[in-house]
Amino acid sequence: MQPVSIYIHWPFCKAKCPYCDFNSHVRNQIDHDIWLKAYLTEIDYYKEYLNNKKITSIFFGGGTPSLMQASTIDAILNKISHFTLSDTLEITLEANPTSIEAARFKDFARIGINRVSIGIQALNDIDLKFLGRTHSAKNAINAIEIAKENFTNYSFDLIYARPNQTLKQWEQELLSALKLTAKHLSLYQLTIEKGTSFYRAYHNNEFKLPDEDLASNLYNLTNDIVENHGLKCYEISNYAVPGFESIHNLSYWNYQDYLGIGPGAHGRINNQAQMMIHHPENWLKQVLEKKVGLQQQNELSLTEQIEEFLLMGLRLTSGVNIKLMEQRFQKSFKELINPAQLEAMIKYGLVKLDDNIYATKKGRLLLNQIIANLVK
Ligand SMILES: C[S@@+](CC[C@H](N)C(=O)[O-])C[C@H]1O[C@@H](n2cnc3c(N)ncnc32)[C@H](O)[C@@H]1O
Ligand code: SF4
Repeated sequence: MQPVSIYIHWPFCKAKCPYCDFNSHVRNQIDHDIWLKAYLTEIDYYKEYLNNKKITSIFFGGGTPSLMQASTIDAILNKISHFTLSDTLEITLEANPTSIEAARFKDFARIGINRVSIGIQALNDIDLKFLGRTHSAKNAINAIEIAKENFTNYSFDLIYARPNQTLKQWEQELLSALKLTAKHLSLYQLTIEKGTSFYRAYHNNEFKLPDEDLASNLYNLTNDIVENHGLKCYEISNYAVPGFESIHNLSYWNYQDYLGIGPGAHGRINNQAQMMIHHPENWLKQVLEKKVGLQQQNELSLTEQIEEFLLMGLRLTSGVNIKLMEQRFQKSFKELINPAQLEAMIKYGLVKLDDNIYATKKGRLLLNQIIANLVK
C-alpha cells in the first residue's frame, strides 16, 4: 500500500502575530459544529483515494489548532481511523503555550494526539512582546513541562536572528531551551513576509535585522550548539535526536503523497497538485454545498515533479538517494538532470554527489536557482 500523510488546517488564532503570513484569522465567534461537519465532509470526499493508502501521519496545523475543541479533533481522528493506519502513525498538533491551551494537553493526549509542536518563539519577555505573542517566558516553560508529562514526543519552535540579537544572547537562550530536553526543535530565522505588520514596520526602518554575516554566524552557531547536545540538523531548520525526526514533515521532504484538508491546504495526490480555497468562510460554504473546498487541481508534468522532488529532497541533510530517484521516475539519473550543470555546481561547491545528491550549506541557500539549472 502506498503511504499518504494528512494535513488538516485550522485557520483561527486568538491574535495575529506581526511576522506571520500563514492562513490565520481572528474571529469573535466560531461555530465549532459547522466546522466539524465541513472537515468530516471533505475527508469523506477523499474516501475512495484513502481506501487504497496507508496513512503514516496526521498533522493539525494552523492557525492555532490548540484552540480547536478536543471533541472536534476526536471526531476527525475517529473518521480517519476507519482507513488503514501505519503502526507508527504520528499525530501532531501545533499548540500555542498559553496557560489555557497547555491545560488542554492532557485531553489532547487522551484522544490520540501523540506529538505536540509548541510555538515558543522566544524565551525572554521583551522579545515575546516584540513578536506580538500572548504568552510569557514563564508560560512557555510551563507548557513544555506539561507537554513532557503528557507526550514522549514533543517539539518546540523558536524564532531567532531577531533585531539587535547578539551571538552571545542567542547562545544563552538556546542553551536554556536545550535544558528543556525536547528531542525535536524547529529553529527559524525571522523572515519579513509581504502583507504582515512587520513588513511595513521594517520598510519604515522601525527595526533592523542582523546583516548577512551575523545571520550566517547565528545559523552556524545554532548548528554547533544543538549538535553538541545530541540533536542532528536533518533539514535546514529542523533538529532532532536520531529517531525523533518528524514523520509528517519527512513525508513532504521525501515527496510522498499528502492530502490537505481545510482552508488553503495544499495537497499532492496521484501526481496532482491541489489547493483548497484560502478564505475560511468561503471554504466552509463551498464544502457544505459541494462536499469539497477545492480551488484548483492540476496534473504536474514530469519536469514539475522532478523539480519538486529535488526542491524538497535537497532540504534534507541526507540529500536525495539517486537509486530511489531513478526508480520513482523510471529514468536514469543522467536523463533526469543536466550533467554539465551538475558538474559546474559541484565545482562551485553548491552540490555534492556520491550514492546521494546533496546541497551543501551554501547550496541550500540557493535551492531555487540550483533546481532551475539542474532539471532538464
Ligand atoms: C503556523 S506557525 C505556528 C503555529 C502556532 N500558531 C504558533 O504560533 O505557535 C509555524 C511556525 O512558523 C514559524 N514562523 C512563522 N512565521 C515566521 C516568520 N516570519 N519568520 C520565522 N519563523 C516564522 C514560527 O516559529 C511558527 O511557530
Ligand atoms: S504565528 Fe501562530 S498564533 Fe501567530 S498568527 Fe501565525 S499561526 Fe497565529
